[in-house]
Amino acid sequence: MMAFGFCLGFALLLFVWSTAKCDQISNGVLHMECRDRYFMIAADLSFTGNEPRFEAVDETGVYPITEQYAAECGYSVSVLPLQGHVELRASYFSCHTDNKDDAVFTFNFNLLANHSGEATYTMNKTCSPSLPWSPREVTCELNYMEVSVRSDVACPTGTKKDDWDAAVNTAYTSATSDWQVMFQRAEQKLMPMNLSEAHKHGYVFDLTDGRLVFRTPYGQPDSFSTEVNGVPVEVVHATLFSRQSWVVLMVDLVAACSMYEGSYDENGYMMWKTPEVLHPLLSGLHNTQVNIGVNGEFLEQPVAEERGYIVEKHNGTVQLSIPYNADGGYRKSFVTDDLYEYYVFHLYLEQISVDEDHVDTRLRVHRTLATPLLPCPVFTENRTVNEEHMFSVYLGDVPDDVELAAVHLNGHKFTVPFTNTSRHTITKVVHPNSTHGYTLKVPFDDPVVLQQFSKEDAAMQHKLDINYTLTVLPEKEPFYHFASVMAQSDVSPPEFDAICLESGIRFRLDHRPFDYLWYISIGSDLLTSELAAQHRLHHEQQQPESAARGAALHSWI
Ligand SMILES: *[C@@H]1O[C@H](CO)[C@@H](O)[C@H](O)[C@H]1NC(C)=O
Ligand SMILES: *[C@@H]1O[C@H](CO)[C@@H](O)[C@H](O)[C@H]1NC(C)=O
Ligand SMILES: *[C@@H]1O[C@H](CO)[C@@H](O)[C@H](O)[C@H]1NC(C)=O
Ligand SMILES: *[C@@H]1O[C@H](CO)[C@@H](O)[C@H](O)[C@H]1NC(C)=O
Ligand SMILES: *[C@@H]1O[C@H](CO)[C@@H](O)[C@H](O)[C@H]1NC(C)=O
Ligand SMILES: *[C@@H]1O[C@H](CO)[C@@H](O)[C@H](O)[C@H]1NC(C)=O
Ligand SMILES: *[C@@H]1O[C@H](CO)[C@@H](O)[C@H](O)[C@H]1NC(C)=O
Ligand SMILES: *[C@@H]1O[C@H](CO)[C@@H](O)[C@H](O)[C@H]1NC(C)=O
Repeated sequence: MMAFGFCLGFALLLFVWSTAKCDQISNGVLHMECRDRYFMIAADLSFTGNEPRFEAVDETGVYPITEQYAAECGYSVSVLPLQGHVELRASYFSCHTDNKDDAVFTFNFNLLANHSGEATYTMNKTCSPSLPWSPREVTCELNYMEVSVRSDVACPTGTKKDDWDAAVNTAYTSATSDWQVMFQRAEQKLMPMNLSEAHKHGYVFDLTDGRLVFRTPYGQPDSFSTEVNGVPVEVVHATLFSRQSWVVLMVDLVAACSMYEGSYDENGYMMWKTPEVLHPLLSGLHNTQVNIGVNGEFLEQPVAEERGYIVEKHNGTVQLSIPYNADGGYRKSFVTDDLYEYYVFHLYLEQISVDEDHVDTRLRVHRTLATPLLPCPVFTENRTVNEEHMFSVYLGDVPDDVELAAVHLNGHKFTVPFTNTSRHTITKVVHPNSTHGYTLKVPFDDPVVLQQFSKEDAAMQHKLDINYTLTVLPEKEPFYHFASVMAQSDVSPPEFDAICLESGIRFRLDHRPFDYLWYISIGSDLLTSELAAQHRLHHEQQQPESAARGAALHSWI
């Protein structure tokens, strides 16, 4: 039976290690880049509007990249509000890419923006990825799986004998000279179909100069979900075959990706895992090597370590742990009653493996990890110094994307910034740790402050309830933070200095802020300018009297 197991013979490809770097066409809002396994366009949302659309263009026409079409044809479009841009990633083997010898790829796209009116921008770019293609390449994109194999090594090596026999039997009875594909699920072998039929089901098979490409969206009816070493894995196993005169050509194409959603542990790490061996046909058992990256680019190991990314292998799985607030991630404030925050991390991972035939497989994974909502409390600190006769209250740990919109002082609303005529002030304090704070100062005798006299303490109590209105940007979602501060001022009776003069007695009273609380009487008569004039008293005041408010006491002299 093994006589039927032919490998497709195609010339080995020559790869040129190109050192030419792709330029970054960038006018600030649009950025195109050739990465080693995909082409990328990033455009500012401020430029494209919130619902940008892309079209792929080739000489046969213009193809709108819808969600379904993207997954079938090797495109992945993400709107990333935290980064403020929309990103399109295109596989080098995507449907409408001009491929010259698997070495030079030309992309043509239209970007349909709808910001200030609809506009179409055309873009083109030619890429020559410098990293040579491995015999087998697997991409686990956000929306599809893609596998490409060098056509000259497309012979199955790890297939179980029984699978192979069954597949070949079917091939022998039903194969025509056209290629047929048969999907295999765990124990089940499904009816073969021709490639145009498979295409209708959302599968794309393509033969390039030197590679056989297979792409499938996730969750297809012919896929199966399994668990490998405790990790959920989605597998699509396609067997392509063709009978040509007396031989049956047959190729196994397996796309398998870890579907682990990510988790968050109590130590503040985002975790993700994948089996070292996703499928026996996909990767060998030996020498798996792992590279970690973020936002579609790999990091040198020392850089990853410095950022606290951890890569561990145990029990046949590769486990990644990334500190929730590590460099490379994005943070966002979020309000539900109180203030919370979450972090998003665009993981990029590579697993390289070498199997017993020394055929290496390069697997690349794009996954988005997010923390749950984490409490992100702001705090207030009473920094009042009584001697300054004013409240000083500091509101701290306010994240960068949150700003103070207003304060209610004992129920009176003041929008921020305050008018420069008010006696209370608010000052913003910026810290290097991406937080800021606000210092609020309100004099004790400001009209908004509540005053209450305490007879026992001979003290005036000042009370200020502060209700801060903070808003999360850019959506301007408000939340409130409440603080109440009190302070006391000494309001013991004023003491007179009496000086005997030849002409009479002089009483002297040093001015103190709360002396307005006291009346000065002569006998039972309140000392007024009129009374002074009437009794030929000389009444002098060095400082204007504060408006009499609150409790009034009598001082008898
Ligand atoms: C573009 O935006 C305008 C107004 O914002 C809207 O009326 C129109 O439907 C949008 N067009 C498309 C194609 O989304
Ligand atoms: C590619 O874009 C450049 C400018 O960016 C333009 O001059 C050129 O004509 C375009 N080529 C094609 C084939 O559209
Ligand atoms: C593929 O299969 C379908 C359904 O069996 C058939 O209608 C169609 O003609 C076939 N196409 C080719 C190119 O053989
Ligand atoms: C590895 O697997 C064994 C048995 O399934 C289990 O007891 C052990 O805790 C696992 N180790 C780790 C680090 O997950
Ligand atoms: C207050 O603001 C106005 C207008 O911005 C300015 O003319 C005035 O000088 C300011 N007054 C003080 C006390 O800063
Ligand atoms: C940020 O820095 C300020 C000033 O050093 C400090 O008071 C505050 O606690 C820091 N906040 C966080 C969340 O680290
Ligand atoms: C603060 O103000 C908001 C909006 O005016 C109100 O809903 C909230 O109850 C206030 N908080 C306190 C503690 O008074
Ligand atoms: C605030 O600070 C003042 C002055 O140091 C102090 O008298 C008062 O008790 C503090 N606490 C509150 C809750 O106001």
